[in-house]
Amino acid sequence: MFMRPGDSLVAGCPFHLPPQVVLYSRRLSTLGGRDSLARPLVQHGHILAFAERSVNLRREDVAKYRDQVNHLRDQLGSHVSKNPDYDLVKILNSGSVAKGTALKTINDMDVAVYVRRARAPVEEKRLLEWLVGRLREVYPTMAPDQFQAGQHCVRVSFRGSGLDVDVVPVLYESERDDRGRLITRDTGQWVMTSIPLHLKFIRVRKERHPQHFAQVVRLLKWWVRERSKVDPGFQLKSFLVELLVAHLGDSGVDLSDYSVGLESTFAYVVRSGLRERVAFDDNYGASMLPSKRAGVIEIYDPVNPENNVAESYTEGDCSRIVAAAQEAFDACTEAHYATTRRRAVELWQTVLGPSFVG
Ligand SMILES: Nc1ncnc2c1ncn2[C@@H]1O[C@H](COP(=O)(O)OP(=O)(O)OP(=O)(O)O)[C@@H](O)[C@H]1O
Ligand SMILES: [Mg+2]
Repeated sequence: MFMRPGDSLVAGCPFHLPPQVVLYSRRLSTLGGRDSLARPLVQHGHILAFAERSVNLRREDVAKYRDQVNHLRDQLGSHVSKNPDYDLVKILNSGSVAKGTALKTINDMDVAVYVRRARAPVEEKRLLEWLVGRLREVYPTMAPDQFQAGQHCVRVSFRGSGLDVDVVPVLYESERDDRGRLITRDTGQWVMTSIPLHLKFIRVRKERHPQHFAQVVRLLKWWVRERSKVDPGFQLKSFLVELLVAHLGDSGVDLSDYSVGLESTFAYVVRSGLRERVAFDDNYGASMLPSKRAGVIEIYDPVNPENNVAESYTEGDCSRIVAAAQEAFDACTEAHYATTRRRAVELWQTVLGPSFVG
């Protein structure tokens, strides 16, 4: 493989790295004590075992939670078949349980409810209250107080019998591919998009990297979760993690070794500073993207070239993510050459949290 000066092989993955990272790697490779070709003391197998034990939502729970949403969906389906002109059209499971990227720590599920645009109030607060009323009509056997207008969604609580469900409205007028205006749960912004095309986008990546795409996503979401505990101002939403890993997988990064996959993602974030535009040609060509920058970080919705999913991230948010990735990258690199298992585990704990025991 041809490499330019300054390029560095990060755990088997070529990236053009900033000088401090290259120097750091060289310094480590000249450290005495451990042969740099020796196998690292924490490897893929240890991270996989940790993921299976502590990170991944158990298969039985995935099935149980999917059934819970299917039940809501089917009940709406039968209401609509009796009332074909009803204000609500259908429900789709839209979050991490649908995508297979949910963590064990999940405490709510996302579903999208398709609402006939012409019937719905325009203003968000009124829309959510109206939606509470419609849902109470569709599910008469549930207690009315199980439906409450929440933060940019209606929360359906199933305390004791399952996970709470956040119902996000999609304003819809029978557009192609179930496109519609969705209210985003984090910012409350309305975006034109398509849930089924998002699910297909993720399914394509899962087919290209069976098991590994979803696993690297879940491990990075775990890293985000751990990082948010020590730095409450840190944010990197799950959909952005999925898009970043899709971008790396599409660019040829090896996702099948989890220490390499994580390290490569951190290296990418550090090298790019998250200033590179990330977009996908699944549903539109690059010429459709805006000619001007549309945010500090630009990671575009694979369905709509006008929707920068990272639009709300500020310079400060971006620096926090890059600094966290730099720390994680340094820890992975140092762990690679650590001379004792204890030290290697300690370093990986800075990435995966104190429950990682190697
Ligand atoms: N800004 C956005 N633009 C378009 N679609 C979005 C946007 N934000 C969220 N979505 C849609 O909502 C779905 C849920 O994404 P989100 O990041 O909120 O949580 P998640 O995948 O359920 O993860 P978790 O709940 O485990 O954190 C995405 O797959 C996508 O379809
Ligand atoms: Mg979710």
